[in-house]
Amino acid sequence: MKIQYLTDRPADCSTVALVMFVTSYDRLIEKSLKELDRACGGTITALMESGEFTGLASETAVITNPDGYRAERVILAGLGDKKSVTADSYRRAAGTLSRHKSLTCCRTATFHLGSIEDKQIFQAVIEGYLLGSYRLLEYKTQESDLAQHNLSELTFAIDNKRLSNRLEEAVERGRIVAEGQINVRRLSAIPANDLSPTKFAREAVKLAEKHDAMTCRVLDQKAIKSEKMGALLAVAQGSEQPPRFVILDYKGGRAGQKPVVLVGKGVTFDSGGLSLKTAALMVEMKGDMTGAAVVLSAMQAAAQLKLPLNLVGLMPLTENMVSGNATRPSDIITTRNGLTVEIINTDAEGRLILADALDYADKFEPQAVIDIATLTGAALYILGYSGAPILGNHAGLLERIKVASEATAERVWELPIWDDFRNSLKSDIADIVNSAGKTAGTSTAAAFLENFVGDWPWAHIDIAYVDVEPKGRPYTPKGTTGIGLRLLVELLSNWKKL
Ligand code: BES
Ligand code: MN
Ligand code: ZN
Repeated sequence: MKIQYLTDRPADCSTVALVMFVTSYDRLIEKSLKELDRACGGTITALMESGEFTGLASETAVITNPDGYRAERVILAGLGDKKSVTADSYRRAAGTLSRHKSLTCCRTATFHLGSIEDKQIFQAVIEGYLLGSYRLLEYKTQESDLAQHNLSELTFAIDNKRLSNRLEEAVERGRIVAEGQINVRRLSAIPANDLSPTKFAREAVKLAEKHDAMTCRVLDQKAIKSEKMGALLAVAQGSEQPPRFVILDYKGGRAGQKPVVLVGKGVTFDSGGLSLKTAALMVEMKGDMTGAAVVLSAMQAAAQLKLPLNLVGLMPLTENMVSGNATRPSDIITTRNGLTVEIINTDAEGRLILADALDYADKFEPQAVIDIATLTGAALYILGYSGAPILGNHAGLLERIKVASEATAERVWELPIWDDFRNSLKSDIADIVNSAGKTAGTSTAAAFLENFVGDWPWAHIDIAYVDVEPKGRPYTPKGTTGIGLRLLVELLSNWKKL
């Protein structure tokens, strides 16, 4: 997609489709709308009076060949009530439009943002457009499915020339963020027969090759053994696929500055192991590496945005499979930090591999550690598909995540780690168990992780279920969502010492 910038009046924009955003019951207060209404002989007034188009969210209207306009058509996109319009209203409106035939049939389009000055909105429009129109086509072979839309050139226009740098910077930023999120969607949608731990690790190596400020180390099975990552090895031992442990390093800050460490769960397929999942639940489990995909893609975005901080991404990668060599319920293993864990349930494998990765993070003397994982099914019963639980040991870090969440419309909500949950993890014969049963599953999982956290601020983001959208929303088509990417990139973009 070619992206261009322009300062011109709507009528003077030379483009096939001109898009203008409208809040509900604007009653043509906007000057540009009034002008357009005159140019089309009052069509907009008529649309509003009949109720056909009133500027509500997800409404669109097309006006063809308005008098004196160089555009062939003007597309009006509803934003909803003016009082409650946010940047995400624009993201949603652009997402809805991104699949609309009236736009996609055109070769060129111009989003006219009028007198808007908010860079969050500039960024949201391109994000909404790119996220809404993404589809994974790698596995489609039929011509009819592959038919791409015509739009190949997108222009962003505003009234005020003084703001054109701000517009350009914000749109470029939005493009990088959306491409990062799309990369997460792509990786989490690729099935496990095409994305083994080895292949995932190769993606990280490829990424590092593209950026001078990045290096990548991949630990193979032997190196993982010498690191004594007994928990990662225990999960991996039931699979024909060897595990990998990826260490991605980005140096955007000054030398010697302590890094922020990101840890992502990378279970490329979670059958549950001998504590086998049901068929219906198992089919979703190619996406159990989404945390790792978010970490990888957030680091890609950080490098593209040249963020001025040091980052380390840790990605423990393995399958959780069934075999004669698989870990048995009741087996006791020793993790990297020396704690013994009684494996009550082999399906609680994510916290095991994260345990070794969190312990490994201590090596880097981190200023903060954030892990992200499709960790507990229980998250569905807390926030549904609407948001991700967050937990941790540092109010300041959690607050930062909440602020980033507000800005990106990727919703989070804090849950507690109470002593009750810690106590529920006591084992009769080992140090701890890996599963405390059915209650408070998201909090007990975090209480488990806490045993492997060092003397640093730590936050845990549980993206189970919200990693897949069941129905389809304006800029989130049915399928993998890539949630967490916008959140982490926003958090890192505003990073200050805690
Ligand atoms: N990967 C799953 C969690 C999950 C479930 C993610 C559904 C996305 C959708 C995780 O490994 C798991 O199986 N967790 C168990 C833990 C339990 C056995 C303590 C769960 O939540 O049921
Ligand atoms: Mn599991
Ligand atoms: Zn899992």
